[in-house]
Amino acid sequence: MRLLRFYQSSVGKKVVVAVTGAIMIGFLLAHVWGNLHVYFGAEEINDYSVWLRTFLSEIFGYGGLLWVIRAIIGGALVLHVITIFLLIRQNRAARPVGYKKTSHRRRIVVGSTMALSGILILCFIVFHILQFTTGTIHPTTFHVDPSNGLGVVYINLYEAFQVWWIAGIYVGAMALIGIHIYHGAWSMFQSIGMNNQDRNGTFRAVAVVLSIGLFLGFASVPVLFWTDVLPPPAEHDIAVQMPIDESATAGGENDQWN
Ligand code: HEM
Repeated sequence: MRLLRFYQSSVGKKVVVAVTGAIMIGFLLAHVWGNLHVYFGAEEINDYSVWLRTFLSEIFGYGGLLWVIRAIIGGALVLHVITIFLLIRQNRAARPVGYKKTSHRRRIVVGSTMALSGILILCFIVFHILQFTTGTIHPTTFHVDPSNGLGVVYINLYEAFQVWWIAGIYVGAMALIGIHIYHGAWSMFQSIGMNNQDRNGTFRAVAVVLSIGLFLGFASVPVLFWTDVLPPPAEHDIAVQMPIDESATAGGENDQWN
């Protein structure tokens, strides 16, 4: 098969890493846009969470489109990680002859930074989904709206980011993601053969804007909650929410995967 032969080549793998990376950057841009609804109040972000499940529900059913998106992002993530692993093995098998010493050393530093930040980001994603989506771990109380079984986003974020080390983990993880995306976006342009001397300045600028923009957009949420710039939820918002209790989590009554 031509597609398989292409994937087996080093260039093919680089293209797959670039395309899956681009899909995940697309997800992050959508996610940061969603998160920024907190600036407009509890109702906005809570409604946004419900909208994610009801958008195009006439076609896909309730939460159906979200599952399609989860499958695409999850598939892209798995393919991205496996392909990078295969690429490293393939590169190790080929002798690094012909590189200038400094360029070779630089590749090792960048490669190690990408590998380490990639592993830490994977750990963050697991922690993050267990905290805010499934409510499996709740270092702070995880509030669920009894009317739809969904986590109540504003109060869950507010309470989590009152805790300095949770806010710290999020800001640290966002810095790693910024660094990973900067190098990733830059090498993506090179992998798909779009780099040339005339355009390199523009591509580097796009990589900088993308990584700093995502970092600021994401990190602003924990920082603004922790510093109390974003207000606590109103009393009446808290009244309609109930904290999920241990037995509900253990008994699988939590409907977070809706
Ligand atoms: C400060 C930064 C972030 C905040 C405050 C945040 C907040 C949230 C919240 C509240 C949810 C649950 C939304 C809902 O159920 O309606 C969520 C889901 C999720 N987030 Fe984040 N997020 C952040 C950064 C990230 C990053 C950087 C990634 C990826 C690297 C990420 C990946 C995900 C994923 C995969 C889900 C699950 C979506 C689903 O399947 O329902 N998040 N996030």
